[in-house]
Amino acid sequence: MEPFRHHIYICTQKKAEGAPSCSAHGSAEVLAALRRELAAQGLADQVQVTTCGSLGLCDWGPNMVVYPEGIWYSGVRPGDAAEIVRDHVAGGRVVERLVSGSREAVRVEIDANRAKMLAALRAQEEAGALPEELSQAVNGFRESRVLLTAIELDLFSAVGEGADARTVARKLGTDPRATESLLNALTALGVLQKRDGSFRNTPETAPYLAEGGARDARAALLHTVHLWPRWSTLTECIREGTSVTRRTAQGPEAGWTTAFIAAMHRNAAFRAPVVARAVGLEGVRRVLDLGGGSGAYSIAFAQAQPGLTADILDLAAVIPIAQRHIDEAGLTDRVHPRVGNIGDDRYGEGYDLVFLSAICHMNGPEENRAMLAKAHAALAPGGRVAIQDFILNPDKAGPKTGALFALNMLVGTRAGSTYNEAEYAAWLGDAGFGEIRRVHLPGPTDLIVARKG
Ligand SMILES: C[S@@+](CC[C@H](N)C(=O)[O-])C[C@H]1O[C@@H](n2cnc3c(N)ncnc32)[C@H](O)[C@@H]1O
Ligand code: FES
Repeated sequence: MEPFRHHIYICTQKKAEGAPSCSAHGSAEVLAALRRELAAQGLADQVQVTTCGSLGLCDWGPNMVVYPEGIWYSGVRPGDAAEIVRDHVAGGRVVERLVSGSREAVRVEIDANRAKMLAALRAQEEAGALPEELSQAVNGFRESRVLLTAIELDLFSAVGEGADARTVARKLGTDPRATESLLNALTALGVLQKRDGSFRNTPETAPYLAEGGARDARAALLHTVHLWPRWSTLTECIREGTSVTRRTAQGPEAGWTTAFIAAMHRNAAFRAPVVARAVGLEGVRRVLDLGGGSGAYSIAFAQAQPGLTADILDLAAVIPIAQRHIDEAGLTDRVHPRVGNIGDDRYGEGYDLVFLSAICHMNGPEENRAMLAKAHAALAPGGRVAIQDFILNPDKAGPKTGALFALNMLVGTRAGSTYNEAEYAAWLGDAGFGEIRRVHLPGPTDLIVARKG
């Protein structure tokens, strides 16, 4: 028996620029309209909508197929969604004007398309053209740079409720011609809309990128802007085996620490309560949060466990930021930030939990061994260490985020990298920990928890 009353497959295939495809014909807008209509007509949980690759009617897109009837619709516009949901899904009546054609006509079109596609592929191969995905990966920096420059200039705030290029340039103090090119490129990327020469933020991006947005991510995204110069030194770092800029969290870029900690804080907003549950805080009274950054995790731990107090050790530039978050959370009496250095200082003693979130990747293996030995000494008998970080596969060639992050640390630190589970287990075992276990978390990082015997 079908678990859903209807199953709609909608093609969202992207193709090389210039080639006809459902995405080029606006399938994303149709998909959004369909989802909106299903929700509005109270049918969202009775209909499964699945995006799919090419259905073979690329010139006719956007295309979709509605099952169990197996009705193919072509040239669907966002404005058609209400009728499809009302007449077909709810009423059982096929929307004849949108039907792709007779069975035979559809088959002929699919066969013709397939032949065309195979011929084009063969011609490309013979000419030695890069496959589309490889070409996109090689050129991906352009899209990234366009977005980073817009973020750096706070362009989305300047666009506001709508502005032409000249107005945006005036607000930003930039060159009008260049600004217009940037605005046009951002529109081509789908992060702005353009009508009659005026640019607008989209409903999808405005909450994150424009001033006053409900989920304002601008301060945190400036951290990614700051990473660009380091990544530009990657080739040299690969030759040398270490960061050639050697910038630390107190590095020379104006605003580095503020943006860095804002990025960490934003990342922790969703993760901290999840981590608090995954670590398990029952019976935990004293926590040491090494390199605790904004304090987001210590705050979440204190909120999850009454009576728990936390000490945060971090660099001098970071402590005032942590203090502000702690005060805002009303936890001034239970979460205590202090200036210190993970490498040089002793950590104290008698803790039930030492927490290391996004710390081990800043270090080389020897630094991690030394840090974990000091963490062991800081724990009361039976206390635990919990490490949150990217954990690589045994061969270290994935997952992708963690493997790329190893290079993020190469370009930014003396010896930092990302590590696999066996490396963590070896360091923890040598430091005297037992009961070493990995806890999988949603997202790119996991936990490794171990106990002092
Ligand atoms: C990647 S952030 C992680 C922040 C926080 N644990 C989190 O997960 O949100 C690394 C933190 O370690 C701090 N840090 C770096 N080197 C340090 C050192 N030598 N001693 C103390 N803290 C340090 C940084 O200032 C920063 O707050
Ligand atoms: S791209 Fe959608 S049918 Fe081919």
